[in-house]
Amino acid sequence: MAFTHIGLLCSGGDSPGMNCAIRAIVRSAHFHGMEVTGIKRGFAGLLRGEFQSMGLSSVGNIIQRGGTILQTSRSPEFMKPEYRKKGIELLKAQGIEALIVIGGDGSFNGAMTLWKEHNYPVIGIPGTIDNDISNTEYTIGFDTAVETAIEAVDRIRDTAHSHARTFLVEVMGRNSSAIALKVGVCTGAENILLPHEEVNHQKLVDDIQRGIARGKESSIIIVAEGPVAGRSYEIQRVLKEKYHMDAHVAILGHIQRGGSPSSDDRFIASQMGNMAVEALMEGKFPMVTVVQNGKVLLTDMKNCTTKEDHNFIQYQKLAQTLSI
Ligand code: F6P
Repeated sequence: MAFTHIGLLCSGGDSPGMNCAIRAIVRSAHFHGMEVTGIKRGFAGLLRGEFQSMGLSSVGNIIQRGGTILQTSRSPEFMKPEYRKKGIELLKAQGIEALIVIGGDGSFNGAMTLWKEHNYPVIGIPGTIDNDISNTEYTIGFDTAVETAIEAVDRIRDTAHSHARTFLVEVMGRNSSAIALKVGVCTGAENILLPHEEVNHQKLVDDIQRGIARGKESSIIIVAEGPVAGRSYEIQRVLKEKYHMDAHVAILGHIQRGGSPSSDDRFIASQMGNMAVEALMEGKFPMVTVVQNGKVLLTDMKNCTTKEDHNFIQYQKLAQTLSI
């Protein structure tokens, strides 16, 4: 299957390293003599016909930049078949024969329907800081987000220690425990609260007091934001009102989504972008580039259309053991 013209877009929440993937796709496609069109603002931009031709120099000087030069969006319209049909018509009118989608499980669901309903060739590249896509050990942006959060928690630990304070540090993860668990283990957090976990305030207080009794000067509780960001304030309120315990809140928020990508994110995104183009050349679609057993490879897209919070749950026991 020889494609001569491919398209690419980013969809869902942005993540550091998306630009590295875009660069790798554009450079690999040109290396193999293909034309590339970027679609701005995800599936929503596709429906508005936001196309831009991507020559070699369009991706110069972006490997170190966070965010995505193509920008991104979440598009509820694309859930409807009539809009997907319109999207396919617009792609074909541009002469775009196949599409690479950088995003999360929701984005792959959208891409998969293009294949199922219209036989349109699609490839997915996992890009989300949440690292919560089934059948891949890694998603682009996770490493940078974790590094950013660790640096922030280390700084908070300095002041927490100076004032002998307890801090609730809220990290991203609406449905995913991955950032909370990795950051918690790497910062020696006293406790980690997972996104859908009901908070056992009594246990939290007991843990903090046990630490104080054996001479701890500060406590860091990592809180995964869960369905509604800001849940740390409610925990703070209960600690104060019911247990007369003071805790400060620090919500890291979108700071975790920005910034220059780490070497791991750059390296994996570069491999995935290249592999996505080669998969199309070899007629392998619908596929997603994934990391399994530490290696970048391809898997059928249907394996990656759901969330999976298993990648890091295995480390919950480690965190509990080390924070005794
Ligand atoms: O990118 C994933 C994620 O960061 C989640 O952890 C978070 O809950 C969500 O996106 C928030 O993103 P937005 O503000 O773009 O809706």
